[in-house]
Amino acid sequence: MAKVAFLGLGVMGYPMAGHLATKGGHEVTVYNRSTEKAVRWVGQFGGRFEATPRAAATKQDFVMACVGNDDDLRQVTLGPDGAFQAMGRGTVFVDHTTASAEIARELAAAAAERGFAAIDAPVSGGQAGAENGVLTVMCGGDAAVYARAEPVIAAYARACTLMGEAGAGQLAKMCNQICIAGVVQGLAEALHFAKRAGLDTEKLISTISKGAAQSWQMENRYKTMVAGEFEFGFAVDWMRKDLDIVLAEARTNGATLPVTALVDQFYAEVQAMGGHRWDTSSLIARLER
Ligand SMILES: NC(=O)c1ccc[n+]([C@@H]2O[C@H](COP(=O)([O-])OP(=O)(O)OC[C@H]3O[C@@H](n4cnc5c(N)ncnc54)[C@H](OP(=O)(O)O)[C@@H]3O)[C@@H](O)[C@H]2O)c1
Repeated sequence: MAKVAFLGLGVMGYPMAGHLATKGGHEVTVYNRSTEKAVRWVGQFGGRFEATPRAAATKQDFVMACVGNDDDLRQVTLGPDGAFQAMGRGTVFVDHTTASAEIARELAAAAAERGFAAIDAPVSGGQAGAENGVLTVMCGGDAAVYARAEPVIAAYARACTLMGEAGAGQLAKMCNQICIAGVVQGLAEALHFAKRAGLDTEKLISTISKGAAQSWQMENRYKTMVAGEFEFGFAVDWMRKDLDIVLAEARTNGATLPVTALVDQFYAEVQAMGGHRWDTSSLIARLER
């Protein structure tokens, strides 16, 4: 059992922090920018909340975070009320935000200067994965530090892997998002085509999902894509944030990502249709408008 702070009780962070308290049996202190969620969390899981990341991070063994983007992360760590102002020597910061590899390296260096360590640990598996405690976690950082953090992360993970040094977790998450972009567009085109061709989409998916075209997106999203329902899931705005990070990294490392760049533009069109908060499977909506 450890003393753990969790910063950011959003769609992902709220249930993740809950698993730390219930399944992990840890002593958990939470922080959320808007206090209502922190109050609700403490009502549901016990523990306590603090008004700033700095206060929440005081005298903890581990500080976990899951906020929005690089700027948000910088604010909750390096800001005047940030967690890094309070973290003691030998403690560990674990970041579950999907952010750039650059900020992961920046935070690892800032932590080292202050005598503690940081691990970048973005997740895959969505809201359901967080609620059921079965996320896939991709980590970057020092191996000895990772070995200490992994049993704590296990409270909400089905798979957790150290990919390499600081930033490597974020680079792995970028690969994850590149795969998803291409797969969802392919699935959207197939379903759009099937409807035009007059095929029974139920029969189609129950057949081709048993073959080489099978994917998580196909199994979990085809029904709502056919029905044109997108008010749930992983928001297009978040996906565009992620693809922006991916394309910036590709400009640096020289990778060629033509399909990812194209799908990013398709998501911009979905945003223009009003789909900022729609699930990423809404790529089919721009084909059917
Ligand atoms: N949702 C998914 O399916 C999914 C899957 C994998 C990865 N992710 C990634 O996980 C991260 C969180 O996603 P989410 O879906 O949980 O988002 P969310 O529901 O919008 O929650 C974001 C959380 O970050 C907090 N926050 C944002 N900016 C902040 C700031 N400047 N200072 C302090 N707190 C701040 C928010 O506080 P308030 O409550 O006050 O707004 C909220 O607690 C993102 O990086 C996302 O890309 C999401």
